[in-house]
Amino acid sequence: MIQSTWKCPSNIALIKYWGKQGKQLPANPSLSFTLSNCFTKTQIGLLPKKSNDLYEFSFFFEGNRKKEFEPKLSSFFEKINYLFPFINEYSLEIKSENSFPHSSGIASSASAFGALALCLCSIEKQLDNTINDNEFFIKTSTAARLGSGSACRSVYAPMAIWGKTKIIENSSDEYAVKFENIHPIFQNYCDTILIADDNAKEVSSSVGHSLLNSNPFSKIRFNEANKNLKFLIQALKKGDLELFNNITESEALMLHALMMTSNPYFILMKPNTLNIINEVWNFRKLSKLNLTITLDAGANVHLLFPDFEKTKVREFINNELSKYCIKNYFINDFVGNGPEKLNNFI
Ligand code: PMV
Repeated sequence: MIQSTWKCPSNIALIKYWGKQGKQLPANPSLSFTLSNCFTKTQIGLLPKKSNDLYEFSFFFEGNRKKEFEPKLSSFFEKINYLFPFINEYSLEIKSENSFPHSSGIASSASAFGALALCLCSIEKQLDNTINDNEFFIKTSTAARLGSGSACRSVYAPMAIWGKTKIIENSSDEYAVKFENIHPIFQNYCDTILIADDNAKEVSSSVGHSLLNSNPFSKIRFNEANKNLKFLIQALKKGDLELFNNITESEALMLHALMMTSNPYFILMKPNTLNIINEVWNFRKLSKLNLTITLDAGANVHLLFPDFEKTKVREFINNELSKYCIKNYFINDFVGNGPEKLNNFI
């Protein structure tokens, strides 16, 4: 049977993608760290088609058939069929699992669509071996983007930039590009994800993105994102931790300020999100350590810090921050090596 299995990590944006246009194209460039321990493993196998349905497939998540996910997959296949014409010629058996608990409040769409796109592109390569490595990742990133915008960045490590910008040659709105010209301090940067809330989000990312169209601050935001990208790239190249911390936190808070200034307005942070931020800022002042926070579209806090400070920061997490986490739960992650092709689904 023709099949492919990939492990794809999640990513955390430092310059945020918030607001889109056209076919899931970003309103501003974004930049992210690709993680390591938070990943999705997916296997796709091709079987002979039995029905006249346009897309025939079955989806299994952590061993169980999950019919409720299938409409989302159908609409994904509809969007990417032009890239992979074989998907309506076979019956697809899709098996998937996450390294993190399903109800942890961690967004899994980036790793999930990244892994799906990698498997599909690998299968295409088996059917028609004409694509080179560079084209493979461009196509994978394009397909992942059509599933979930931020997913297009997960296929590259240690960092990725998505969105056309004059600062980065070859950058594109259609797919992400690898960003690797960074100071060694950032190569294995730590990210501890503090689970401040494990409920489903009250407002989905797609609704949040669309509300930016009528947000009175959107133009200012897109300018700020471009400016912040320039400064952050400077910090990443030089290893300037003060500038890195400043831009990263400003981006996270601006993202949530945009939510609060949308119409209708909404807040995704929870009391424990703010408790954690305040504790981190107090501890940073006292300890002079380089820990900084970022947030995605949710209540959980990503605590970023250099590897050489990890012993002291982890002590602080265990002693002071874990009490603000649901069931004291947090995940120690770090900037990793990107997706991995596997021989078997384990
Ligand atoms: O990919 P989406 O549509 O789930 O949007 C992700 C948006 C943020 O996580 C808030 C920012 C980002 O760039 O990842």
